[in-house]
Amino acid sequence: MRSFTYDIATKILFGKDKLSEMLPEIKAHGKRVLLAYGGGSIKKMGLHGAVTALLQKEGIFFKELSGIQPNPRITSVREGIALCREHQLDFILAVGGGSVIDACKAIAAGVPYKGDAWDFMIGKAQVQEPLPLGCVLTLAATGSEMNGSSVISNDETQDKRPMGHPSLRPVFSVLDPTYTFSVNKWQTGAGATDIMSHLFELYFTPDKGAYVSDAMTEALMRTCLVYGPKALEKPDDYEARANLMWAGTMALNGMMSFGKLPGDWATHMIEHEVSAIYDLTHGAGLAILFPNWMSYVLDEENVWRFAQMARNVWSVKADDDFEAAREGIAAVRQFFTSLGMPARLADVEIDGSHLDTMARKACVYGKLGALKRLAATDVEEILKRSL
Ligand code: NZQ
Ligand code: ZN
Repeated sequence: MRSFTYDIATKILFGKDKLSEMLPEIKAHGKRVLLAYGGGSIKKMGLHGAVTALLQKEGIFFKELSGIQPNPRITSVREGIALCREHQLDFILAVGGGSVIDACKAIAAGVPYKGDAWDFMIGKAQVQEPLPLGCVLTLAATGSEMNGSSVISNDETQDKRPMGHPSLRPVFSVLDPTYTFSVNKWQTGAGATDIMSHLFELYFTPDKGAYVSDAMTEALMRTCLVYGPKALEKPDDYEARANLMWAGTMALNGMMSFGKLPGDWATHMIEHEVSAIYDLTHGAGLAILFPNWMSYVLDEENVWRFAQMARNVWSVKADDDFEAAREGIAAVRQFFTSLGMPARLADVEIDGSHLDTMARKACVYGKLGALKRLAATDVEEILKRSL
C-alpha cells in the first residue's frame, strides 16, 4: 500500500430536510452570496423557492446566476466572475448537478485571478485563495460535491478540460436524496453510469496490496448495481436515491484511491473529447467507451484485476482468469444497457469523422492511463471499436 494523507474537509449534511442546516455554514464563510443554478429544474421542484426564502429570512444578501448548461461553458464562468466582482460577493452557493458545481468552482478560482478563467483549464494559472463554495446537490453522479475538481467546456475551441485544487472542495454539501426524485430516466442512468465509471477508473491501477480501497470500491460498485435499476424503476424510491447519492459522493471524494495510484482516467479523458465536440451527456459517453477500453487494455499482466472485479462484483464463476475477465466485461455492457445507456457512438448519431482529432486532443499532454499507457493511436482504435 502506498503512503497517503487523509484530508477531506467538506461537511456533509445528508438526508431529508437538512437544507436549513447550511445557513450557519454559509454565515461562517461569507456575507454576500452568488446563488448559481442551471436551466430551471430547481425552480420546477420548488428548491429555488426554498433556498431563496431561507437566505432572505436570514437577511443574507444574494445575486443569482442562472442558465448554467450541462457540460458547463466558460462563458457562464466568466459571467459568474463578473457578477461576484460587481457585487463584492464572497461566497458561492451551487444548487444543481455536477455542471453547476463545476462552473462554481471555476468562478471561485477566477474571482481573485487577474487573467481569463480559461487559463486554469490550460495550465496557465494555478488556483490561489478561491472564494469559498457550498453545494445543494440535485443529481447523483459526479462526486463534485466533495472533491476539488471541475470540468469546463469551451465552444470556441471545442475543448473540454479539467482543473482542480484541494482548496476548491466545497466547505459543505447538502445531500437530500428527495431532491433527486425528479431526475429523469436518462440522467438517472447516466448518473449511475458515471458513478460506476469513477469506481472503474480508481479500481483499474496496477497496484497490488491496497485491499481496503479495492474492497470499498467493489462495495460501491455493487451499490450501483443494486440501486441504479431501482431508481430507474421507481424515481421516488428514497432508499435507492439515498444509496446512489452517497455512493456517488464516496466514489470520487478521494477515499477510494488512498494507498494506490490515483486512478487510470484514460476513459474519462477520451469521453471528454467526445462530449467537447458533440455535447454528449457525460455518462452516456462513458457507457459507450468503458467496455471497449476494458477489452482493449486487458492482458496477461492485468487480467487478475479484471477477474477479481468480475468475481467480486458481477458474481462470475469462471475459474480461468481470462474467461472471468471477459464475462465481467460483458456484464458491464449489459448493466449499462439496462440503465438505458447507448452501446455505440452510432446510437447517439456520432460517426467516424472526428476520431483522429479526438484521439490527438485526448493525448495533448502525453500518453493516457495508469493500467496501460495509451498513445493517440490506441485512443483512435478504442474510438473505432466504439462506432
Ligand atoms: O440545468 P438543470 O435545469 O438543472 O437540469 C439538469 C441538466 O439538464 C438536470 N437536473 C439536475 N438535477 C435535476 C435535474 N433535472 C430534474 N431534477 C433534478 N433534481 O440534469 C441535467 C444534467 O445535469 P448536469 O449537472 O450536467 O449532470 P451531472 O451531475 O451528471 O454533471 C455532468 C458534468 O460534470 C462533469 C461532466 O464532465 C459533465 O460536464 N464531471 C465532473 C466531475 C467532477 N467535478 O469531479 C467528474 C466527472 O467525471 C465529470 O467529468
Ligand atoms: Zn465522470
